[in-house]
Amino acid sequence: MITVHTIRELREHVRNARNSGRRIGFVPTMGNLHEGHISLIERSLTADCFTVSSIFVNPLQFNDKSDLARYPRTLPADQEKLAAAGCDLLFAPDVDEMYPNGQDAQSIVHVPVVSEGLCGGSRPGHFDGVSTVVSKLFNQVLPDMAFFGEKDFQQVAVIRKMVNDLCMPVEIVPVPTKRAADGLALSSRNGYLSAEERALAPGLYQTLSEIADDFKAGKDLSDSLKNAEERLNQRGFRTDYLEIRRTSDLAPATLNDHSVVVLGAAFLGSARLIDNLQVTLNQAND
Ligand code: PAJ
Repeated sequence: MITVHTIRELREHVRNARNSGRRIGFVPTMGNLHEGHISLIERSLTADCFTVSSIFVNPLQFNDKSDLARYPRTLPADQEKLAAAGCDLLFAPDVDEMYPNGQDAQSIVHVPVVSEGLCGGSRPGHFDGVSTVVSKLFNQVLPDMAFFGEKDFQQVAVIRKMVNDLCMPVEIVPVPTKRAADGLALSSRNGYLSAEERALAPGLYQTLSEIADDFKAGKDLSDSLKNAEERLNQRGFRTDYLEIRRTSDLAPATLNDHSVVVLGAAFLGSARLIDNLQVTLNQAND
C-alpha cells in the first residue's frame, strides 16, 4: 500500500488507476482503525474497486476542542491494518493541506434538516464540518463509490442528501455496524472506557433493542422512550438522546411507520457513545 500526504500525489495515483480501467472506491476515516473501518475497506474491495482510504482528524467537525486534542492518532498501526486488508492507497494529509487558507476562511457545505437534531442537536456545527470535509475529499479523490458505516446513521443520511442535492457523481454505499461479541458497536471512542465502564457499555445497544421491542409491540412511543431513558441512566449512562425516526428521511416516527431506526447517544464516564438499530415491520402497527 502506498501512503501519500499531498493532494497532488493522491490525484496522480488515482489517475493512473483510472487510466488502467479501475473503478475508484473511497473510505474516509479519522484513523485509529478497528474492524468496523476495515469492513468498509473489504466492502470496497468486494466491489472490485481500486481502494483509497483517508485518515484525517478533521478539526472542523469537533465542536469540543478538548475532544479534538485527545482524539487518538495512530498512523503506523493504521497503515499496517490497511495494508493487511488490501487497501491500495492511503491519503493522510495534514491540516494545512486540507485547509490552506485557515479553517475560518473555508467555504462551508451545509445540509439542512437532516443534519438538525440527534447528534446535530448535541454537537452544533458538527455536520457542517463533516459535509465540508467529505465534499473536499470527494473532489480530491473523485471516487465512483464511497463507503460509510451505518453506525453513524445520521452521517450517512447527511452525506446521501449532500450528494443528491449537489449532483455529486458518487454512489454512497452504507455498510452494517460491526459489533463486539457482547453487542457494543466498535468505535475509536471505546478506548476512553475504563474496564468497569467497558463492562457496562453494551447497555446502550440493549436499551435500543428494548425500544425496538416496544415499537414492534405497538407501545406508546413517548412512554417507551421515557422509560428507556430511565433504564439507560440506571445502567450507568448519562443519556444524551434516545429517539425513533423514520429510516427513509429521519423524520419523527409514528406507530404507522413500517421502517424505523432507534437512535441513541449517551455518556459513559468521559466517552460519548452512539448507536442505532433499524426495525422493519412486515405490516403497519395499526
Ligand atoms: P470515523 O469515525 O473514523 O469513521 C470512519 C468510517 O467508519 C465512518 O463511515 C463510520 O461510520 C465507519 N465506522 C465506524 N465504526 C464502525 C463500525 N463499528 N462498524 C462499521 N463502520 C464503522 O466518521 C468519520 O470518521 C468522519 O466523520 C469522516 C466521515 C471520516 C469525516 O471526517
